[in-house]
Amino acid sequence: MVYESIPRTVRILLLGEPGVGKTSLILSLVTEEFTEHVPPKAEEITIPADVTPEQVPTNIIDICLAEQTLEQVGEEIERAHVICIVFSVDRQETLNKIASYWLPFVRENCPDDYRKPVILVGNKIDLIDYSIIDNIWDIAEEYPEVDRCIECSAKSLINVSEMFYNAQKAVLHPINPIYNIEEQE
Ligand code: GTP
Repeated sequence: MVYESIPRTVRILLLGEPGVGKTSLILSLVTEEFTEHVPPKAEEITIPADVTPEQVPTNIIDICLAEQTLEQVGEEIERAHVICIVFSVDRQETLNKIASYWLPFVRENCPDDYRKPVILVGNKIDLIDYSIIDNIWDIAEEYPEVDRCIECSAKSLINVSEMFYNAQKAVLHPINPIYNIEEQE
């Protein structure tokens, strides 16, 4: 059984299809307001320990497929402690790509015996008036590394800090020991 030791800093990586709001989520967290025009990719951000709920310095890393190769994204997955896969709740295809593309891609870039925790993030809930969480249980069942799912809005500042806090918690207080059950049997 392989346990990852608790790190001294938490490295949170945001993945997902173009336009789902990754950069907006990071900037909304940092500035506490929504900016309509954001750069394609946010600079790496370090949140000092004393302003995080868990008192652990936290780095947040954005990706932008228009500016990075898949190899570079793979390297960021290797360096991350937790991965937030963002989709846009008003674009079903961005949710479909989580199981068809992003979760397998994350697995490809993690060691076989240690699967990094993943948070599924449904952004832009300001655009719909229903919950899409029920569409996610099948994915969570198929991919046990999915630690939790959260709906949020970078625009309305709903659940933005909660999303990053939950990512931190998934590393510091994992719900389940994270290992590849199939390979233990
Ligand atoms: P890439 O850089 O292409 O990977 O996109 P991204 O995932 O970083 O998305 P980005 O933050 O650039 O946002 C894409 C568009 O969605 C922008 O026009 C944002 O203003 C908009 N957007 C982001 N978050 C929200 C949200 O919560 N609600 C709404 N209504 N729009 C949002």
